Amino acid sequence: MSGIASRLTNQLVGKNFHKPSSLFFTRLMSSGTYENVLVEKVGEKKNVGLITLNNPKSLNALCDPLIADIKKAAIDLSKDKDVGCVVITGKGKAFAAGADIKQMQPMTLQNCIMGNFLSDWGQFGKRPIIAAVNGYALGGGCELAMMCDIIYASDKAQFGQPEILLGTIPGAGGTQRLTRAVGKSLAMEMCLTGDRITAQTALAAGLVSKVVDAEKLVEEAIKTAEKIANNSKLIVTLAKEAVDGAFETTLTQGCQFERKIFHSTFGTNDRKEGMDAFVEKRKANFTDS
Ligand code: CAA
Repeated sequence: MSGIASRLTNQLVGKNFHKPSSLFFTRLMSSGTYENVLVEKVGEKKNVGLITLNNPKSLNALCDPLIADIKKAAIDLSKDKDVGCVVITGKGKAFAAGADIKQMQPMTLQNCIMGNFLSDWGQFGKRPIIAAVNGYALGGGCELAMMCDIIYASDKAQFGQPEILLGTIPGAGGTQRLTRAVGKSLAMEMCLTGDRITAQTALAAGLVSKVVDAEKLVEEAIKTAEKIANNSKLIVTLAKEAVDGAFETTLTQGCQFERKIFHSTFGTNDRKEGMDAFVEKRKANFTDS
């Protein structure tokens, strides 16, 4: 890494945080725009957006301004024509330790209903998002990870839905997404006891797709994000829509939905280019059209 890039990394991420060895930061969108997250474009082609939750003192507790910044950053990145995939991680020892309990403590039923509390979480734009869970992912933190498309966990990560210990229940999809990911028994156990599970248990249960050494976590997530970003953004969007459809429908309807999307790829230049390139034994040059 060049001197400037290395200085920049140290300044931005501190000594306890990831230092991607071969990845160069480009534009810093954080300056002046986001107060609670760091936003960078990374990877060889700078086609991956990296959002780092940056309130380590509160273990990245998800207060309204932090959620607003995550949303804004994800949407801004999804509008960037160069960015094909986004990675979200946390600075310090937590990915996110949940919704901000201090903010919630004085809230009333009226506040929750009138403000439709938590309803705006999860609107993070069109690009696929990889959660690189570096530490605690509890309550809303676990829910945030599960709103993403892929979850990688560091070997130090812990997942949990401890709301029951606060006299409440998950409110940002925890009971629903966790049950779909790990099955009823483990989801029920986690939601009813508040017990946390390790990265290895999360891997065995299907909540995460990979467990990586803590120091390599973000680098590994970025590598996968680059693979996604190097594919056609148009077709990636369709593939993501098809997989997401599996959570919303029956098998027959889901397969019909998939087939329609598959058929629709035959109206794109990128489908033609992909198959032409295979037949001509060359690398495809996708144009997102
Ligand atoms: N909200 C607000 N502040 C939090 C927080 C949260 N969810 N989690 C941690 N913090 C704060 C702590 O209050 C503490 O702040 P101070 O230094 O000002 O006291 C700081 O972060 C460091 O935390 P700890 O001293 O507790 O750190 P620890 O290493 O001893 O423990 C922990 C770590 C086990 C994660 C512990 O902090 C903890 O249990 N946090 C709460 C986890 C939780 O209950 N999450 C669910 C929230 S509810 C929810 O998310 C609802 C939903 O569905 C959206």
